[in-house]
Amino acid sequence: MANYSHISGAAVGLITLQNPPVNALSAAVRQGIVDTVKRALGDPKVKSIVICGQNGIFCGGADIREFGKPMHGPPLVPMIHAIEAADKPVVAAIEGIALGGGLELALGCHYRIAHTKAKLGLPEVTLGLLPAAGGTQRLPRLTGLPAALDLITTGRHITAAEALKLGILDQVIDHNTVDAAVKFALGVAEHTLDARRISTRPCPCPPLLDALFEEAMLRVRQSTRGAIAPVACVQALQAAATLPYTRGMEREKELMATLFTSGQAQALQYSFFAQRAVAKWSMSSGARWDNSKPRPIHKTAVIGLGTMGRGIVVSLVQAGLSVVAVEAQEKQLVDSKQAISGMLRRGAKRRGGAPPLDTVTYSQNLQAVADVDLVIEAVFEDTVLKKKVFQQLSALCKPNTILCTNTSGIDVDLIASQSPRPELVVGMHFFAPAHVMKLLEVVCGSRSSPQAVATAMSLGKKMGKVGVAVGNCPGFVGNRMLKPYSEQGLFLLEEGATPELVDAALEEFGFTMGLFRMSDLSGLDVGWRIRKEEGLVQPGATTGPGARVRHGRRYSPLGDLLCGHGRFGQKTGRGWYKYDNRHEARFDPWVQHFLEGYRSQHGLAARRIDRQEVLERCLYSLINEGFRILEEGIAAGPEDIDVIYVFGYGWPKHRGGPMFYASTVGLTKVVERLEHFYQAHPDVPYLQPCGLLRRLEASGSPPVHKWRGIIKKTHSHL
Ligand code: COA
Ligand code: NAD
Repeated sequence: MANYSHISGAAVGLITLQNPPVNALSAAVRQGIVDTVKRALGDPKVKSIVICGQNGIFCGGADIREFGKPMHGPPLVPMIHAIEAADKPVVAAIEGIALGGGLELALGCHYRIAHTKAKLGLPEVTLGLLPAAGGTQRLPRLTGLPAALDLITTGRHITAAEALKLGILDQVIDHNTVDAAVKFALGVAEHTLDARRISTRPCPCPPLLDALFEEAMLRVRQSTRGAIAPVACVQALQAAATLPYTRGMEREKELMATLFTSGQAQALQYSFFAQRAVAKWSMSSGARWDNSKPRPIHKTAVIGLGTMGRGIVVSLVQAGLSVVAVEAQEKQLVDSKQAISGMLRRGAKRRGGAPPLDTVTYSQNLQAVADVDLVIEAVFEDTVLKKKVFQQLSALCKPNTILCTNTSGIDVDLIASQSPRPELVVGMHFFAPAHVMKLLEVVCGSRSSPQAVATAMSLGKKMGKVGVAVGNCPGFVGNRMLKPYSEQGLFLLEEGATPELVDAALEEFGFTMGLFRMSDLSGLDVGWRIRKEEGLVQPGATTGPGARVRHGRRYSPLGDLLCGHGRFGQKTGRGWYKYDNRHEARFDPWVQHFLEGYRSQHGLAARRIDRQEVLERCLYSLINEGFRILEEGIAAGPEDIDVIYVFGYGWPKHRGGPMFYASTVGLTKVVERLEHFYQAHPDVPYLQPCGLLRRLEASGSPPVHKWRGIIKKTHSHL
C-alpha cells in the first residue's frame, strides 16, 4: 500500500510506499499510488508531491512474487503516465534502491533526488524481461542512447554519483533525503513542468545510429549466449531512437509480451529465488546441518599460497578480515606476496580507495596461526599431507578455531578424523580463480557441527560468495556431476566426434565453455594424477579387451594418453586444442590424427554424431547424477544443484540450471533417452535412470519447486 500525509503546512503531499521488504510495486502498492496521487492532485492546498519508500528503501521494482499469477490492480504504465502528466511537481526521494519499476516510477516523476548511498538500475534483463513501464523509452531520452544501452542490456546497478553524472538524478544528498525532497518540492511548486516530462523530449540520437545498434546487438549476442532478453532490450531502444514516443511504447509492450511468458524468463526468475533459497539453507532431509547461529570471525589464516590460496587471501582481505598467510616454500612465499599485493592493488583501483595491504601477515611458520578464529587450508591435493597439516593445526590453534579445507576431492571426514575436534572441521570448496568465482560449496562432514557450517556459510557470504551447503561424498556436488558429463565427452570422441563438435554443441546450448576447452583451461594433468592414484591409468596403450574397461565398466584412456604426450592443456600450449597465444583454442591436426589412430588401434568405427546426441548424452548423464545426489541427501534440493552449476560451472543462467532444465525438457523424455543410451551402452551404469528420477516421473513429473518437499518426505520414510 501507499501511505499519504501532508507536510509543510499541507503544501506538500507525501506518499510513502509500504510493502516490505523492498517496497515492491504489488497490486496494493500500485492501487495506493493511484489513489494517493489523485487525492494530492485534487487537494487545492497541496502544491507539490513527494514520493518515497518506507524504511529507507525507495522501491525494488515490480513484485516478482506476482509474476505468473493473474494480474490484479492498476497497471504501471498508465499510473506512471498520470504522474508525469500531473500539473503539480512530483519529486522522487530515493533512498536505498530504485530498481526496475522503482526507477521507472521515478523517471515518471518530474524531479529525482537521491541519497549518496542509493543504488539505481533497470535489472529486468537479469530476470529475462525488459523495463516495460516506459523504462526503455524514457531512460535514453534522459541519458542518451549509449548509456541507456549499457544500463538496460546489462541490468547493472549504479551509484547515485554515476546516476547524477548521467543526468538521471537532479540532486544527490548525504543527509535526510525525504526532508531535502520536501524542501526541493516547495521550491519548485510554481515551476512550469513541460520540460520535466521526459516522454515529451526527443531521444538524442548520435551520428552513425545504425552502427551503434549493430555493435550493441553483436555485443549482447556474443556475451549472453542465446539469451533473448538482452536482444529485445536493444530492439526496444532502437524503437526509442527511431519512433515517436507512443509508438515506441507499443513496441516496448510487444517485446515484453514475448519475453514475459518465455521459458528463459521463468528460468531466470527461478534462479533469482533459488539463489535466495540456498542462502537460507535451513536444511532438509537427511541432512545433519541446520540454521545454527554463526560464530563471529575476525582473524583468519590461509595455509598454502598456490593458485587457490592466493585468491582466498584476496577475498578474505576484501571482506575486511585480517589474514595470516602461511606458505612452506620460501620462493613461493615471496612470489605469492607479490601476486596478492598486485591483486589487492588492482581491486582497490577498480573500487576506488587504498589497498588494504597491511591486513595480511605472511609467514613460513605454521605457528603463526595460534590465535586465529578460522583457518582455510589450501595445500597440495595430497591425502598424507592434508592429514599432517590438520594434525598440526589441531595442536597449534585455539581450541575453538574452525578448521576448513579447500580440498576438491579428499574425504572431509578423513581429514576431520585427524583432529580431536572433528566437529570444527568443514570443507570450504572455492573455485578457481577464488577471488573471482562466486561459488562456494560448504562441505558438511558427518561430524561437522551446525555452528561450524553456519560460520563457513556466513563467512562465504561476507566474502561475496554464493555459498551452498552440501554433504560429503567423492566430488561433492559439482565435480561429482561433472564426472559422467566429462566421460560421455570422451566416449563421444571414441565413437567419432571431435572436441570441436562437442564444444560447439555445448557452447551453442549456452555454456561459457565447452567441455574440452574447459578441461584445457583447468589443466588435464589434475584429473590424470587423481586417476593414477586411483589405479585407473595403465602404463602404455594396450589394445586388448581390457584396454577400455576398468572395474568392469567402460573406461576411456584418451585423456591419459593425451597427458602421456605432455599435453596438459593451456599451460603447455597443447591439449585438446593448440594455443599459440596461450588463450585462444585452435584446431590441432595432431589431435585429429591421434583420435583416428586411437580408433583404428581399438577397432572402433567412427560414426556421424550430431549435436543433439552430444547434448543428450552429456547433459542427461549429468542430470541423472544430480537426481542421485538429491536421493542421497547430499544436496537439499534442486535449487542447490542449479545454483552450483550456474555460479561455478558456466551453466547458462537463462536455462535455470540442470535440474530446472530437466523439468523443462520433461522427466519422461529424460528417462526415455537415458534408458535408450543405457541399452546401447550397458557397460556405463550411471546411464540407468536413478530411482528418484523414475519416482518423480511416475508421479506425473511435478514442477521443480515441488521436488524439495517430495524428496524431504521420501527421506523421512527412510
Ligand atoms: N519483488 C518481490 N520480492 C523481492 C523483490 C521484488 N522485486 N526484490 C527482492 N525481493 C525479496 C527477496 O526475494 C527476499 O525475500 P526473502 O527474504 O523472502 O528471501 C527479500 O526481498 C530480500 O532480498 P535479498 O535479495 O535477499 O536482499 P538484498 O539486500 O541482498 O538485495 C535487492 C535487495 C533489491 C537488491 C535484490 O533483492 C534484487 O536485486 N531484487 C530484484 C530487483 C529487480 O530485479 N527488480 C525488477 C523486477 S522486474
Ligand atoms: P597449488 O599447488 O597451486 O598450491 C599449493 C601450495 O601449498 C603450494 O604453494 C605449496 O608450496 C603449499 N604447501 C604445501 N604444503 C604446505 C604446508 N605444509 N604448509 C604451507 N604450505 C604448503 O595448489 P592449488 O591448485 O592452489 O590447490 C590447493 C587445494 O585447493 C587443493 O586441495 C586443490 O584440490 C584445491 N582446489 C584447487 C582448485 C584449482 O582449480 N586449482 C579448485 C578448487 C580446489
